[in-house]
Amino acid sequence: MLDSLGNLKRTHHCSQLTAKDLGEEVVLMGWVLRRRDHGGVIFMDLRDREGITQVVFNPEFNKAVHDKAHAIRSEFVLAVRGTVVHRPDGMINPNMKTGEIDVMVSELRILNRSQTPPFVLDDDAQVSENIRLRYRYLDMRRPELQNSLILRHRAAATIRSYLNESGFLDIETPFLTKSTPEGARDYLVPSRVNPGQFYALPQSPQIFKQLLMMAGFDKYYQIVRCFRDEDLRTDRQPEFTQIDVEMSFVSEEDVMDMTEGMMAALFKEILGIELNLPFKRLTYEEATGRFGLDKPDLRFGLELKDVSDIIINSEFKTFANVARAGGLVKAVNAKGCIDLSRKEIDNLTEFVAIYKAKGLAWIKVRPDAWQSPIAKFFTDSEKASLADRLDMEPGDLVFFIADQRKVVNEALGHLRNHLGHKLGLVDNDQYDFVWVTEFPLMEYDEDEKRYVAVHHPFTAPLERDIGRLTQDPHAVLSRAYDLVVNGIEIGGGSIRNHHRAVQEKVFEALGMDRETYENKFGFMLEALDFGAPPHGGIALGFDRLVMLMAKESSIRDVIAFPKTQKAACLLTGAPCGASPLQLQEISLKVRTLKG
Ligand code: AMO
Ligand code: AMP
Repeated sequence: MLDSLGNLKRTHHCSQLTAKDLGEEVVLMGWVLRRRDHGGVIFMDLRDREGITQVVFNPEFNKAVHDKAHAIRSEFVLAVRGTVVHRPDGMINPNMKTGEIDVMVSELRILNRSQTPPFVLDDDAQVSENIRLRYRYLDMRRPELQNSLILRHRAAATIRSYLNESGFLDIETPFLTKSTPEGARDYLVPSRVNPGQFYALPQSPQIFKQLLMMAGFDKYYQIVRCFRDEDLRTDRQPEFTQIDVEMSFVSEEDVMDMTEGMMAALFKEILGIELNLPFKRLTYEEATGRFGLDKPDLRFGLELKDVSDIIINSEFKTFANVARAGGLVKAVNAKGCIDLSRKEIDNLTEFVAIYKAKGLAWIKVRPDAWQSPIAKFFTDSEKASLADRLDMEPGDLVFFIADQRKVVNEALGHLRNHLGHKLGLVDNDQYDFVWVTEFPLMEYDEDEKRYVAVHHPFTAPLERDIGRLTQDPHAVLSRAYDLVVNGIEIGGGSIRNHHRAVQEKVFEALGMDRETYENKFGFMLEALDFGAPPHGGIALGFDRLVMLMAKESSIRDVIAFPKTQKAACLLTGAPCGASPLQLQEISLKVRTLKG
């Protein structure tokens, strides 16, 4: 129990001891979670990463040790030597792994003291996230975060062994590189030895993994950090981790099969859950049509219904005009929600306005009549058709939105999710996997006034659509697929262009002239010319996956040192200014632009 320097040596973790160890002499090391002074006898919960053991300082057993224990406060670091004893009757805690025993302390060493922590290190402590992030090393002593990070480790290990056993090679790719287009802004790193020039941190290893296929490596993976300067949300961080995979000589089916096998192994190993294979599949068209979003939550119904054809000639001009102008009028039936108040409906109207909906019309189905600001405009036959299409029964509340397709689908899709949760239709223990396929290759960006890639510009168009790239690029569908779980996009990938001519056509459809794409991606086009094999792959958002498995609501809760909404690290104070010398070395001058 002593090493050559006379220090105590740990014999057990704080979760290990049970009634089997009664009478044993043990040495534990850990932090003081709680201390209770019970008129003479002092109890402490000693905590390490594995769990908690109650240690006892009894003056009748050892006076000196008991005296020393008086000075101990929360989060002091202790080494204790003692004997495992049975807890007195009535003191046994069946909810605690070590709840049957105590350690009666005979030797106490205070390894370090602690200031009073700024918050109680308890899972239900009410403390703001900013304080937790500022003292993240304390926050991470809480069992919840410990468990999430342990789960994260085990998940990564399971994935690695699955991929290793399936013949994938783990190959590293550079962080200091050239822009990789994934639709976000780049993080730039100035080059000291090349004044005025910059590396970009990779938004993903996309180009390198394709080059590895061209190098003949055939099956690649990496659990790798990616960097994207984008607006942050609960499921987005400026640096995040992907399980990145690429394969040669494959079609969509092969990549999907591999991914499904990997997910099945992961969920079985970590959560003991058998996933149903194969996963469901929806085309982009179906997903957005029926559920509004390209990441549908299939754990509940509330499907959207198109009623444009029914109201196109109605007296409600707002709707009829939209339908005639080529827009859509769609509805969702919130079954049994007739009791929603005006105030609640107003709140929902504000909610859909976030997604640019101009209004939210509604009908309450009373047993005798419809109550609604718009019902008076409809003829009996229009009403009958609506009732039939929307399965309207007494007690229902139906919501309508009229607008351009994209606005209607997005607004109603989010409303559907909102209602699903509000109405308690979501089973939180279910993991509902679905592939969404055949995304449009590109979409028109109103702000930039040009087509942008929906996935990234290396995604292959459907074979049958290649001919339409020049004439009507918006109609071209792609060989891309997303993996969605419970309404969260956890992965995306595609079959890539491996012929230079097609890749060039795609660049051109995206509004790049030859000079631009040669300049940006000339090296990649050149590589396609030297025998590039057909290839494709996928990247899964590892943080999101772990968040789902740990049943957390933010990826910040499964990342050891996450950043805030403003991309700051509250612990280290990054980002921060640079010294004049540092700036001089990289030939930069900082000038703050006003306004
Ligand atoms: P994509 O851009 O779809 O594809 O990214 C793959 C997955 O990464 C996750 N993800 C994020 N997670 C946290 N924070 C972020 N800021 C963030 N951005 C993305 C998502 C997403 O599904 N190179 C392609 C993949 C390929 O084609 O093989 C790519 O990066 O879960
Ligand atoms: P109005 O005719 O503007 O008084 O609108 C009558 C009802 O229709 C109100 O409940 C509005 O919220 C709703 N409404 C107006 N425009 C739209 C629209 N584009 N989509 C859905 N509902 C709308």
